[in-house]
Amino acid sequence: MNAAIRAVVRACMYYELECTGIFRGYDGMIDGDYKKLHVRSVSKILGRGGTVLKSARSMGFMTKEGRQKAFENLQERGIDALITIGGNGTFTGAHIFQEEFGIPIIGIPGTIDNDLFGTDNTIGFDTACNTVVEAVDKIRDTANSHNRLFFVEVMGRDAGFIALRSGIATGAIAIMLPEEEMSIDGLIDVLEKGAASNKTSSIVIVAEGDANGGAYEVAQKVNAKYSHYETKVTVLGHIQRGGSPSHWDRVLASRMGVAAVEGLVNGKSDAMIGVINDKDEFTPFLEAISKKAMPNKEELRIAKILSI
Ligand code: F6P
Repeated sequence: MNAAIRAVVRACMYYELECTGIFRGYDGMIDGDYKKLHVRSVSKILGRGGTVLKSARSMGFMTKEGRQKAFENLQERGIDALITIGGNGTFTGAHIFQEEFGIPIIGIPGTIDNDLFGTDNTIGFDTACNTVVEAVDKIRDTANSHNRLFFVEVMGRDAGFIALRSGIATGAIAIMLPEEEMSIDGLIDVLEKGAASNKTSSIVIVAEGDANGGAYEVAQKVNAKYSHYETKVTVLGHIQRGGSPSHWDRVLASRMGVAAVEGLVNGKSDAMIGVINDKDEFTPFLEAISKKAMPNKEELRIAKILSI
C-alpha cells in the first residue's frame, strides 16, 4: 500500500494538486488525523510493508454522525476529493459517503485476498503468495525427510486465491478453498492415490475460509479416518500480511495510484481503479462490492491435473 500512497502523492505533485494524508483510515478522517504530504514525505517507503498512513477498519464511519464529522473535517481543510485504499468494507463506506455528501472518490484495491471484482490483481496478493511459497518450500524439506502429511493454512477468510496460487506454486497434493468444496473423503482419496504411487511427502494447502474448517480441523478429520501418516499443521497467519512488497505489487500499486489521481482529474468518481488484461479500468463501487471475484477456472483445473 505504501507504493500506492507514494504514487498518489507524486502524481498529485505532478498535476500541481495539493495532497493530504489521512491517518488511521476513516477513524482518522473523523478525528482530524490529517497531514499535508509533499514529494519528499513519501521518500523511501516504496519497499516497506504495511502502510505509513496506518489505515485500519473503522466502526465510527459506519454511523451517520461519524460520516458527518468526517465531512466537516474535509470541508474545513478544503479537501474536495478522496482516494481510498482497501477492500470491500472501505469501498462500501466510500460509496455511502459519496452518496451522502457528493464528494468524488476513487478506490484502489488493496487486500492480500485478491477477492475484488474489477481487477485481475489486488495490491498485496503477489507478495502474500510469495511469502507462502517461501514458507511451504521450507516445510517441504522436512516433509521430505519423514513420512509426514502437512496441512498448511493460508489466509483468505472468504476467498481461496492465495491457497490456489500458492498450492500450484508449491506442488500441493490438494488445495482446499471456499469456492470449490472438497469433502474429507475426497481428500483422503487423493492422499491414497498419492501414497499408492510412492509419493513421499504430501502438503495440503487449506484456505482459512474452507467449508471443512481451518487446517487444524481438516487435519483432525483426516486423521480420524487415515491414521497411518503422522500429520502436522502449520498456520501461517499474519506473516502473509507484511514484509517488503514484491516487484509486481510495487509496479501494480504505482500504476493504480497514478491512474486514481488521473481518474479524479478527468471527472471519474464512485469507482474502483483496476487493471484488467493489462488495461486500466474503472468499476463502479456498487459493482465492485456486490459482485464476487472467482479464482481462475483454468488454474483450478491444472491444480488437479498436477497434484497426482
Ligand atoms: O481480509 C483480508 C484478510 O487478510 C483475511 O484473509 C484475513 O482473514 C484477515 O484479513 C485478517 O484480518 P485481521 O488482521 O484483522 O485479523
